[in-house]
Amino acid sequence: MTLETCIGGMAAVGAGHTITFCTVPSEAFAPDPSSAPWWRRGVVYQIYPRSFADGNGDGTGDIAGIRSKLGYLRDLGVDAIWINPWYLSPLDDGGYDVADYRQIEPRYGTTDEAEALITEAHEHGIKVIADVVPNHTSYQHTWFQEALQAPLGDPARDRYHFRPGKGENGSEPPSDWTSVFGGPAWSRVDTMTDVEAAADGVAEWYLHLFAPQQPDLNWENPEVVEEFEAVLRFWLDRGIDGFRVDVAHGLVKDMDYPDLGLATDALLTSASFDGHPFWDRDDIHPIVRRWRNLLDEYDGERMMVAEAWVRPERLPLYLRPDEYHQSFNFDFLEAAWKADDFRTIMEKATTAAAEVGSTPTWVLSNHDVMREATRYGLPDGTDWRSWPATGPANLLDAELGLRRARAAALLLLGLPGSAYLYQGEELGLPEVWDLPVEVLDDPVWEQSGHTLKGRDGCRVPLPWSRSGASYGFGENEGWLPQPQVFGELSASSQTGIGQSTLELFRKALHLRREFGTSDETVELLDAGDDVLAYRRGSGLICVVNFGDEAVELPDHTRVLVHSQSDALAEAPISSSLPPNTAVWLQ
Ligand code: GLC
Repeated sequence: MTLETCIGGMAAVGAGHTITFCTVPSEAFAPDPSSAPWWRRGVVYQIYPRSFADGNGDGTGDIAGIRSKLGYLRDLGVDAIWINPWYLSPLDDGGYDVADYRQIEPRYGTTDEAEALITEAHEHGIKVIADVVPNHTSYQHTWFQEALQAPLGDPARDRYHFRPGKGENGSEPPSDWTSVFGGPAWSRVDTMTDVEAAADGVAEWYLHLFAPQQPDLNWENPEVVEEFEAVLRFWLDRGIDGFRVDVAHGLVKDMDYPDLGLATDALLTSASFDGHPFWDRDDIHPIVRRWRNLLDEYDGERMMVAEAWVRPERLPLYLRPDEYHQSFNFDFLEAAWKADDFRTIMEKATTAAAEVGSTPTWVLSNHDVMREATRYGLPDGTDWRSWPATGPANLLDAELGLRRARAAALLLLGLPGSAYLYQGEELGLPEVWDLPVEVLDDPVWEQSGHTLKGRDGCRVPLPWSRSGASYGFGENEGWLPQPQVFGELSASSQTGIGQSTLELFRKALHLRREFGTSDETVELLDAGDDVLAYRRGSGLICVVNFGDEAVELPDHTRVLVHSQSDALAEAPISSSLPPNTAVWLQ
């Protein structure tokens, strides 16, 4: 279905504005919403285990901590949790460097505890999504260690990408590819081992599209394909409800390794082109189809969501009925605070998903980007990735940022499809932008030659109480320092306070169940340049004012929730909406 065919008609509304009807999905795919699987409409709460809750006081979050907060998550009203990688790992990239996909990292707990968590989450009515990292392993994975020790030509090396260097003695990398984190995407084998792996004096190199500690797997090797299917089964057999697939647009590479002539795309951009040697290659899809078949063998509504940074026109390929159930729509992460930008993204994502019978998957924040309460408080065009090199203090309007973040939350949660929330988003946590450089842990900081601040500022341990060594994160200080403001933003400080961000989320999530999930339709309302407004088939109307002046609200009988004022939410009718706020009406 194209956007044109989804526009069904126009009708007059309010002060001379028109309503554009945009009803999705198309007839061909329209499921019966009452029996639609949970993931089509679920709210998924992302847990970064290292920073969520520390059950044993060692400063690192763990499975015990997650288990202790299941009641909180149930009361918040989420349908599922997605847990960032929890596997054995040296944590060189926060766990996206896996040394054993069947073992839990001891700092987080044990496989038995993981199983207990899955069971208990289910008892709380919460599904559990694991993160699977198929593009690369840790250098500590047995396979890579075996490969490093193996002689040239040994099959153990064929599970990765080893190549002789170019130039005299192979002293130049095999191609000009650069790592997503900065620097060359190839490292010399002799930097990793004492073993001299060279043929005729020509140095050997291995490929890593991310950090040197994350060697890329060779997906043309059947052993790699089989191993990942076994890993998926391992976790499905333990009750996992789905997988978030890391770097789903990676995996397959052009084995001729042609020079690219340009820097590799940054982590969060989707720029690529047809025939790109390592992003979004057509041969990815047969692999995905095998995974989908495998998931379909299991009972229950198991699902897969792709982290695929691809051009919008390529995304539906990943969402075909025999491939991923969903793919993140990351465009909100990059959007400036402009009604038009948000509207365009909404339309594009909704249409792309509907074309293949999927539903959109909305995201405002995750463990890779600056938290939105800070992002929206910065002047348009600020390069938030380069801090602390430039220092934001004088640019940041923290109050405005939070106000907009709360409005954006209502925009997101009112939409059909599923919404992914990142831990702490419900508390309105800001980015911790002024972490001392000595504590920075993200490889991006080092690999970018200290030009990019890295992603630690959104990974600071969560505050659960007003005081204590780590504001209730654990008994002792957490692995990254927390700012003082975390005390008043902690979950317990906000509980029961009508105006708090936490109560706003709770209210919105409960209303969403009541009003927002009984249909998958949305009509865009044209309510003025700085306003984004839509109506759900269930009758819920969401209006977001992106501008600097109050705007008139459409006719309604009740205010369901307001992003700023609780008192207003209690008023039956309100005529105008202040700047940088959102409201749900009936
Ligand atoms: C994904 C993850 C990111 C990680 C990268 C490499 O983009 O979200 O945190 O660094 O993959 O695995």
